Amino acid sequence: DQIKVFSPGTIANVSCGFDVLGLALETPGDVMVVKKIDAPLVQIIHLDAYNLPTDPEQNVAGKAALAIIDDLKLDYGFEITIDKGIHPGSGIGSSSASASGVVFAINQLLDTPLSEAQQMHYAMIGEYVASGSYHADNVAPALIGGIVLIRGYGPLDYLKIPVPNELWATVITPKIPIRTFDARRVLKSKVLLTDAIQQCGNLAGFIAGLYTANFGLISRSLVDVLIEPQRAVLIPEFYALKQAALEAGALGSGISGSGPSVFALCQGESKAIAVKTALNEVYQDLGIPYEINVSKIN
Ligand code: HSE
Repeated sequence: DQIKVFSPGTIANVSCGFDVLGLALETPGDVMVVKKIDAPLVQIIHLDAYNLPTDPEQNVAGKAALAIIDDLKLDYGFEITIDKGIHPGSGIGSSSASASGVVFAINQLLDTPLSEAQQMHYAMIGEYVASGSYHADNVAPALIGGIVLIRGYGPLDYLKIPVPNELWATVITPKIPIRTFDARRVLKSKVLLTDAIQQCGNLAGFIAGLYTANFGLISRSLVDVLIEPQRAVLIPEFYALKQAALEAGALGSGISGSGPSVFALCQGESKAIAVKTALNEVYQDLGIPYEINVSKIN
Protein backbone atom coordinates (compact mmCIF):
# COMPACT_ATOMS: atom_id res chain seq x y z
CA ASP A 1 0.00 0.00 0.00
CA GLN A 2 2.61 2.49 -1.03
CA ILE A 3 3.68 4.13 -4.24
CA LYS A 4 6.71 6.06 -5.45
CA VAL A 5 6.22 8.84 -7.99
CA PHE A 6 8.33 11.33 -9.93
CA SER A 7 6.65 14.71 -10.26
CA PRO A 8 8.18 17.06 -12.82
CA GLY A 9 9.13 20.70 -12.74
CA THR A 10 7.09 22.97 -14.99
CA ILE A 11 7.43 26.25 -16.85
CA ALA A 12 4.40 28.44 -16.15
CA ASN A 13 3.35 31.42 -18.27
CA VAL A 14 5.65 30.48 -21.20
CA SER A 15 5.99 34.22 -21.93
CA CYS A 16 2.67 34.89 -23.66
CA GLY A 17 0.31 33.07 -21.25
CA PHE A 18 0.50 34.58 -17.77
CA ASP A 19 -1.45 32.28 -15.43
CA VAL A 20 -2.96 30.38 -18.37
CA LEU A 21 -0.10 28.36 -19.92
CA GLY A 22 2.27 25.77 -18.52
CA LEU A 23 4.44 22.95 -19.72
CA ALA A 24 6.05 19.94 -18.06
CA LEU A 25 9.80 19.36 -18.05
CA GLU A 26 11.59 15.99 -18.02
CA THR A 27 13.97 17.16 -15.35
CA PRO A 28 14.33 18.24 -12.56
CA GLY A 29 11.50 16.84 -10.46
CA ASP A 30 10.51 15.68 -7.00
CA VAL A 31 10.51 12.04 -5.95
CA MET A 32 7.82 11.13 -3.45
CA VAL A 33 6.80 7.97 -1.65
CA VAL A 34 3.25 7.89 -0.33
CA LYS A 35 2.25 5.14 2.08
CA LYS A 36 -1.14 4.38 3.61
CA ILE A 37 -1.26 4.59 7.41
CA ASP A 38 -4.03 3.43 9.76
CA ALA A 39 -5.13 6.79 11.19
CA PRO A 40 -6.75 9.51 9.03
CA LEU A 41 -3.88 11.95 9.32
CA VAL A 42 -0.82 13.03 7.36
CA GLN A 43 2.84 12.65 8.28
CA ILE A 44 5.49 14.48 6.26
CA ILE A 45 9.08 13.27 6.02
CA HIS A 46 11.64 15.37 4.16
CA LEU A 47 14.72 13.70 2.67
CA ASP A 48 16.21 17.01 1.56
CA ALA A 49 17.73 19.94 3.40
CA TYR A 50 15.30 22.70 2.45
CA ASN A 51 13.64 23.01 5.85
CA LEU A 52 10.17 22.97 4.36
CA PRO A 53 7.28 22.74 6.84
CA THR A 54 6.45 19.32 8.23
CA ASP A 55 3.13 20.53 9.67
CA PRO A 56 0.73 19.12 7.05
CA GLU A 57 -1.45 22.26 7.19
CA GLN A 58 1.57 24.35 6.16
CA ASN A 59 2.96 21.92 3.63
CA VAL A 60 1.73 21.90 0.01
CA ALA A 61 1.63 18.11 -0.21
CA GLY A 62 0.23 17.78 3.31
CA LYS A 63 -2.57 20.26 2.70
CA ALA A 64 -3.64 18.54 -0.52
CA ALA A 65 -3.62 15.15 1.23
CA LEU A 66 -5.62 16.47 4.19
CA ALA A 67 -8.24 17.93 1.85
CA ILE A 68 -8.67 14.53 0.18
CA ILE A 69 -8.91 12.72 3.53
CA ASP A 70 -11.52 15.22 4.78
CA ASP A 71 -13.64 15.35 1.62
CA LEU A 72 -13.68 11.58 1.08
CA LYS A 73 -14.03 10.92 4.82
CA LEU A 74 -11.24 8.35 4.62
CA ASP A 75 -10.59 6.23 7.70
CA TYR A 76 -6.91 6.00 6.82
CA GLY A 77 -4.18 8.57 6.15
CA PHE A 78 -0.81 8.92 4.47
CA GLU A 79 2.86 9.09 5.26
CA ILE A 80 4.46 11.28 2.61
CA THR A 81 8.19 11.14 2.05
CA ILE A 82 9.46 13.96 -0.16
CA ASP A 83 12.83 14.18 -1.87
CA LYS A 84 12.80 17.54 -3.58
CA GLY A 85 14.76 17.63 -6.80
CA ILE A 86 13.39 21.12 -7.44
CA HIS A 87 14.70 23.97 -5.34
CA PRO A 88 11.88 25.85 -3.60
CA GLY A 89 11.44 29.34 -5.05
CA SER A 90 13.16 28.44 -8.31
CA GLY A 91 10.33 29.35 -10.70
CA ILE A 92 9.91 25.86 -12.12
CA GLY A 93 6.92 24.84 -10.09
CA SER A 94 8.57 23.43 -6.98
CA SER A 95 5.45 23.63 -4.82
CA SER A 96 3.22 22.42 -7.65
CA ALA A 97 5.38 19.36 -8.22
CA SER A 98 4.92 18.30 -4.60
CA ALA A 99 1.22 19.16 -4.59
CA SER A 100 0.52 17.37 -7.87
CA GLY A 101 2.77 14.43 -7.07
CA VAL A 102 1.00 13.67 -3.82
CA VAL A 103 -2.44 13.89 -5.38
CA PHE A 104 -1.39 11.64 -8.25
CA ALA A 105 0.11 9.14 -5.80
CA ILE A 106 -2.87 9.12 -3.41
CA ASN A 107 -5.18 8.61 -6.36
CA GLN A 108 -3.40 5.33 -7.13
CA LEU A 109 -4.05 4.20 -3.55
CA LEU A 110 -7.77 5.07 -3.38
CA ASP A 111 -10.42 2.38 -3.83
CA THR A 112 -12.39 4.71 -6.09
CA PRO A 113 -10.11 6.93 -8.16
CA LEU A 114 -10.70 10.66 -8.46
CA SER A 115 -11.49 12.27 -11.80
CA GLU A 116 -8.73 14.29 -13.44
CA ALA A 117 -10.62 17.51 -12.62
CA GLN A 118 -10.84 16.48 -8.94
CA GLN A 119 -7.12 15.75 -8.89
CA MET A 120 -6.51 19.22 -10.33
CA HIS A 121 -8.72 20.75 -7.63
CA TYR A 122 -6.77 19.11 -4.79
CA ALA A 123 -3.38 19.92 -6.33
CA MET A 124 -4.45 23.59 -6.51
CA ILE A 125 -5.46 23.49 -2.84
CA GLY A 126 -1.93 22.35 -2.04
CA GLU A 127 -0.31 24.92 -4.33
CA TYR A 128 -2.30 27.70 -2.66
CA VAL A 129 -0.38 27.12 0.60
CA ALA A 130 2.83 28.27 -1.10
CA SER A 131 1.68 30.96 -3.51
CA GLY A 132 -1.43 32.42 -1.89
CA SER A 133 -3.33 32.16 -5.15
CA TYR A 134 -5.27 29.50 -7.06
CA HIS A 135 -3.42 29.25 -10.34
CA ALA A 136 -3.17 25.97 -12.23
CA ASP A 137 -0.50 26.78 -14.78
CA ASN A 138 2.06 24.68 -12.88
CA VAL A 139 -0.13 21.99 -11.31
CA ALA A 140 -1.98 21.16 -14.54
CA PRO A 141 1.10 20.29 -16.62
CA ALA A 142 2.74 18.60 -13.60
CA LEU A 143 -0.31 16.37 -13.27
CA ILE A 144 -1.14 15.59 -16.92
CA GLY A 145 2.13 16.41 -18.73
CA GLY A 146 2.78 18.24 -21.98
CA ILE A 147 1.61 21.80 -22.63
CA VAL A 148 -1.64 22.85 -20.97
CA LEU A 149 -3.82 25.88 -21.58
CA ILE A 150 -6.00 27.01 -18.68
CA ARG A 151 -8.94 28.52 -20.57
CA GLY A 152 -10.66 29.72 -17.43
CA TYR A 153 -10.74 29.47 -13.67
CA GLY A 154 -14.37 29.85 -12.76
CA PRO A 155 -14.97 26.95 -13.21
CA LEU A 156 -11.58 25.48 -14.06
CA ASP A 157 -11.47 24.74 -17.78
CA TYR A 158 -8.21 23.44 -19.23
CA LEU A 159 -6.99 21.56 -22.26
CA LYS A 160 -3.86 19.81 -23.35
CA ILE A 161 -2.31 21.31 -26.47
CA PRO A 162 -0.49 19.10 -29.00
CA VAL A 163 3.28 19.40 -28.81
CA PRO A 164 5.18 19.45 -32.09
CA ASN A 165 7.96 16.95 -32.47
CA GLU A 166 11.39 18.23 -31.52
CA LEU A 167 10.32 20.96 -29.11
CA TRP A 168 12.93 21.29 -26.37
CA ALA A 169 13.42 23.55 -23.38
CA THR A 170 16.62 24.75 -21.76
CA VAL A 171 16.19 26.20 -18.27
CA ILE A 172 18.75 28.01 -16.14
CA THR A 173 17.95 28.13 -12.44
CA PRO A 174 19.91 30.67 -10.39
CA LYS A 175 19.90 29.56 -6.74
CA ILE A 176 18.47 32.80 -5.43
CA PRO A 177 14.94 31.91 -4.37
CA ILE A 178 12.07 34.21 -5.32
CA ARG A 179 8.75 33.56 -3.63
CA THR A 180 5.83 33.51 -6.06
CA PHE A 181 3.86 35.38 -3.45
CA ASP A 182 6.37 38.29 -3.62
CA ALA A 183 6.72 38.15 -7.41
CA ARG A 184 2.95 38.53 -7.72
CA ARG A 185 2.84 41.49 -5.38
CA VAL A 186 5.15 43.53 -7.64
CA LEU A 187 2.67 43.31 -10.52
CA LYS A 188 0.46 46.21 -11.48
CA SER A 189 -3.21 45.27 -11.45
CA LYS A 190 -4.02 47.22 -14.64
CA VAL A 191 -2.62 46.80 -18.15
CA LEU A 192 -2.67 49.02 -21.23
CA LEU A 193 -5.18 48.08 -23.91
CA THR A 194 -2.41 48.15 -26.55
CA ASP A 195 -0.35 45.69 -24.47
CA ALA A 196 -3.37 43.44 -23.88
CA ILE A 197 -3.99 43.31 -27.63
CA GLN A 198 -0.38 42.32 -28.30
CA GLN A 199 -0.46 39.65 -25.60
CA CYS A 200 -3.72 38.17 -26.97
CA GLY A 201 -2.24 38.02 -30.46
CA ASN A 202 0.87 36.28 -29.17
CA LEU A 203 -1.03 33.77 -27.06
CA ALA A 204 -3.30 32.89 -29.96
CA GLY A 205 -0.29 32.72 -32.29
CA PHE A 206 1.59 30.43 -29.92
CA ILE A 207 -1.33 28.01 -29.60
CA ALA A 208 -1.92 28.03 -33.37
CA GLY A 209 1.81 27.44 -33.88
CA LEU A 210 1.73 24.41 -31.59
CA TYR A 211 -1.29 22.93 -33.37
CA THR A 212 0.28 23.37 -36.80
CA ALA A 213 3.93 22.71 -35.78
CA ASN A 214 4.79 26.12 -37.22
CA PHE A 215 8.05 26.95 -35.45
CA GLY A 216 8.26 30.40 -37.06
CA LEU A 217 4.89 31.32 -35.61
CA ILE A 218 5.83 29.80 -32.23
CA SER A 219 9.00 31.87 -32.22
CA ARG A 220 7.29 35.18 -33.14
CA SER A 221 4.66 34.56 -30.47
CA LEU A 222 7.03 33.88 -27.55
CA VAL A 223 6.82 37.47 -26.35
CA ASP A 224 5.62 38.87 -23.03
CA VAL A 225 4.79 42.57 -22.96
CA LEU A 226 2.78 42.40 -19.72
CA ILE A 227 4.76 40.66 -16.99
CA GLU A 228 8.39 40.27 -18.06
CA PRO A 229 9.18 44.01 -18.02
CA GLN A 230 7.95 44.17 -14.41
CA ARG A 231 9.76 41.07 -13.12
CA ALA A 232 13.00 41.22 -15.11
CA VAL A 233 14.69 43.29 -12.39
CA LEU A 234 14.35 40.38 -9.94
CA ILE A 235 16.72 38.20 -12.02
CA PRO A 236 20.45 38.98 -12.29
CA GLU A 237 21.48 39.39 -15.96
CA PHE A 238 18.01 38.50 -17.23
CA TYR A 239 18.36 40.39 -20.50
CA ALA A 240 21.89 39.04 -21.07
CA LEU A 241 20.56 35.49 -20.65
CA LYS A 242 17.69 36.13 -23.00
CA GLN A 243 19.93 37.67 -25.64
CA ALA A 244 22.43 34.82 -25.35
CA ALA A 245 19.65 32.25 -25.79
CA LEU A 246 18.26 33.98 -28.86
CA GLU A 247 21.72 34.40 -30.41
CA ALA A 248 22.35 30.68 -29.85
CA GLY A 249 19.24 29.90 -31.89
CA ALA A 250 16.38 29.63 -29.37
CA LEU A 251 12.85 30.12 -30.64
CA GLY A 252 12.17 32.41 -27.69
CA SER A 253 13.21 33.00 -24.11
CA GLY A 254 11.60 34.41 -21.00
CA ILE A 255 11.04 34.11 -17.27
CA SER A 256 9.90 30.69 -16.10
CA GLY A 257 6.89 31.18 -13.84
CA SER A 258 7.67 33.88 -11.32
CA GLY A 259 11.43 33.43 -11.68
CA PRO A 260 14.35 33.37 -11.12
CA SER A 261 14.58 30.51 -13.63
CA VAL A 262 14.85 31.63 -17.24
CA PHE A 263 13.78 29.30 -20.04
CA ALA A 264 14.39 29.06 -23.75
CA LEU A 265 12.35 26.94 -26.14
CA CYS A 266 14.26 25.38 -29.01
CA GLN A 267 13.65 23.33 -32.13
CA GLY A 268 15.79 20.24 -31.72
CA GLU A 269 18.16 18.91 -29.11
CA SER A 270 21.33 20.35 -30.61
CA LYS A 271 19.88 23.89 -30.40
CA ALA A 272 18.84 23.25 -26.79
CA ILE A 273 22.38 22.18 -25.93
CA ALA A 274 23.88 25.18 -27.77
CA VAL A 275 21.59 27.41 -25.68
CA LYS A 276 22.78 25.64 -22.53
CA THR A 277 26.38 26.52 -23.43
CA ALA A 278 25.41 30.13 -24.14
CA LEU A 279 23.52 30.53 -20.83
CA ASN A 280 26.42 28.97 -18.98
CA GLU A 281 28.79 31.57 -20.43
CA VAL A 282 26.63 34.38 -19.07
CA TYR A 283 26.50 32.95 -15.53
CA GLN A 284 29.80 31.12 -15.04
CA ASP A 285 31.70 34.07 -13.59
CA LEU A 286 28.91 35.78 -11.66
CA GLY A 287 29.46 33.95 -8.40
CA ILE A 288 25.79 32.95 -8.18
CA PRO A 289 25.21 29.19 -7.91
CA TYR A 290 23.00 27.85 -10.69
CA GLU A 291 22.06 24.78 -12.66
CA ILE A 292 20.99 24.33 -16.26
CA ASN A 293 18.65 21.56 -17.42
CA VAL A 294 17.59 20.47 -20.88
CA SER A 295 14.25 18.69 -21.47
CA LYS A 296 12.34 17.40 -24.43
CA ILE A 297 8.73 18.56 -24.24
CA ASN A 298 6.36 15.65 -24.72
N1 HSE B 1 1.57 32.19 -13.16
C1 HSE B 1 2.23 32.23 -11.90
C2 HSE B 1 2.99 33.52 -11.76
C3 HSE B 1 3.14 31.05 -11.82
O1 HSE B 1 3.71 33.86 -12.71
O2 HSE B 1 2.89 34.18 -10.74
C4 HSE B 1 3.97 31.00 -10.60
O3 HSE B 1 4.83 29.90 -10.69
